[in-house]
Amino acid sequence: MYGKEIKKVLISKAQIDERVRELGKKISEDYAGEKLTMVCTLRGATVFFADLIRQIPNEMEIDFIAVSSYGGGTSTSGEVKMVKDLSSPIEGKNVIIVEDIIDSGVTLSYLVKLLSTRAPKSLKVCSLLDKPSRRKVDFKGDYVGFEIENEYVVGFGLDYDQKMRNLPEVCVLKEEVYAK
Ligand code: IMP
Ligand code: MG
Repeated sequence: MYGKEIKKVLISKAQIDERVRELGKKISEDYAGEKLTMVCTLRGATVFFADLIRQIPNEMEIDFIAVSSYGGGTSTSGEVKMVKDLSSPIEGKNVIIVEDIIDSGVTLSYLVKLLSTRAPKSLKVCSLLDKPSRRKVDFKGDYVGFEIENEYVVGFGLDYDQKMRNLPEVCVLKEEVYAK
């Protein structure tokens, strides 16, 4: 359905599955014997989140948060707005924010700053993808699935203009789609 807009598959389902298993193992080792609160950032991280939490056997709560930093295009406006806050307090909890991609770093810097004011026991960030070359603010993820080049990607939860989130693999969008 989206064939015309896609340049290539960047990360296959098999590669994603393998990496998600590794990340889950690492997180469950780092938090052995601890309870976790996994926070999914809406909407991009949902697909990754659903896979990741099932690779972590720890006792766990899940929660959802939505912020927006983007208009409809492919680069950040630099401004972050809270759209939906967490449903439960995180004081004293081991919180891991799960994100789809770290791009400029603006969104996650905002989220980490915000959630750290709520006195969690610990706070870390796990992102499926990372584009280090695009940083506008200094930010480093604690757990990162794949570092990628500066190409706009869609699928496995990531969107272009709210579309293509349902593609099962991480794909590169053709430049002419977003150059318009
Ligand atoms: P940041 O605040 O610039 O780090 O942007 C983070 C958000 O931008 C992510 O949660 C994505 O929703 C979006 N984003 C950044 N790069 C891409 C991309 O290549 N494809 C799809 N969404 C992206
Ligand atoms: Mg997005």
